[in-house]
Amino acid sequence: MSPANAINRKMGNDAKAKRGAQGFAKKVAHIIGMSGGLACGRGSTGLFALFSGIRKVLGQGEVIVPSLCCEAVALAVRASGHELTLADISPDTLCMTPETLAPHIGKNTRAVIIVHSFGIDAKTWQFDILRKEFPNTIFVEDIAHAFGGHSSSGKMLGGQLDFGLTSLASNKILPGGLGLLLHGANPKVPLDIISKRLPNSNGSDVPPELCVSLRNIVHSVADLWRGSEGEKNNAIFPMIEKSYYDIITQTRLMPCMESAENALKNIEHITTQRHLEYLEWVNIMNDGPFHIPNISEGGTCWRVPVVFESPKVALAATRTLRKHGFPVSNHYFPLSVLYGQDSCPNAEMVALRIINLWTDGSITLNDKLKIAKLIKKQY
Ligand SMILES: Cc1ncc(COP(=O)(O)O)c(C=O)c1O
Repeated sequence: MSPANAINRKMGNDAKAKRGAQGFAKKVAHIIGMSGGLACGRGSTGLFALFSGIRKVLGQGEVIVPSLCCEAVALAVRASGHELTLADISPDTLCMTPETLAPHIGKNTRAVIIVHSFGIDAKTWQFDILRKEFPNTIFVEDIAHAFGGHSSSGKMLGGQLDFGLTSLASNKILPGGLGLLLHGANPKVPLDIISKRLPNSNGSDVPPELCVSLRNIVHSVADLWRGSEGEKNNAIFPMIEKSYYDIITQTRLMPCMESAENALKNIEHITTQRHLEYLEWVNIMNDGPFHIPNISEGGTCWRVPVVFESPKVALAATRTLRKHGFPVSNHYFPLSVLYGQDSCPNAEMVALRIINLWTDGSITLNDKLKIAKLIKKQY
């Protein structure tokens, strides 16, 4: 095939994939109870476009993010030119609450991101009073960890606020290589303004090593901090983060629609399986010097968060499990530490003590029992 034909063919395939992705976004929006959706390169690109649109319509201000959250969310805020404000989380639910949000919200608050961390219901209805008090603030429900889950009242998570956001990254619940920004019937920011803010899809591809090196930097800052039990806090991140804005602002839309469509077809099964795995872990871990937040029936679970009483146990459990070849993560590193901002004590307390266990069907019951035994040896 001539180079010109190859380029034309690729452009045709790209255009087809893009149309497929936009149709998929609408389908997901309707399932979740929203009016429509916009497919984006990744979840944080959707947030970036939303925040940039908000800036165009309402002006620059601040965006409130829970301190125990993925750094990509913070990058989307900062790349769009808003100020990043962090709210603490509840040590019980690991999510932001009206009480932790209230001291930070004000007339300058352009948006608030409520994250159902790990699949735990952040109970969006509890924010109704603050939403009424601040009608110009846009509330976003982030279901990157909770896709397919339901609240205790049976409603699907993701459809209760002004916007919904999910990530279809390969390690998430619905893998598809893109992000979806979902919106209600009368979005406070016109959708054409948001979609114009979407990074130019003809832009250069982001070198994959940039994403990997960002993760590594965050992990190395986190490891130093955890190794010193929270003493060391060198806020180098704000100095280097601009080099990583490309990850948020230039991601091309390169979805894998087959995988996304297949996962969506099976979403009820996936959700139920993940919740069953969560219950299995709770059962196997039994009682001990740790807290596993509640995820009710109907909910889903991205990874099981286990918060130990002591940072030493979390560190020892992480090292031992990795040494034995088992997957374990310590999400998340608190953004307050990453950015050298005012302390969010609950997020920092949890981040020093947390490990996350897999619920994606990759760990057999036998291995779960071995993992629990290895963890128990640490306390
Ligand atoms: C809660 C949450 N929201 C949003 C994102 C951003 O998603 P993406 O990686 O698709 O940009 C992440 C990333 O892991 C996340 O954990």
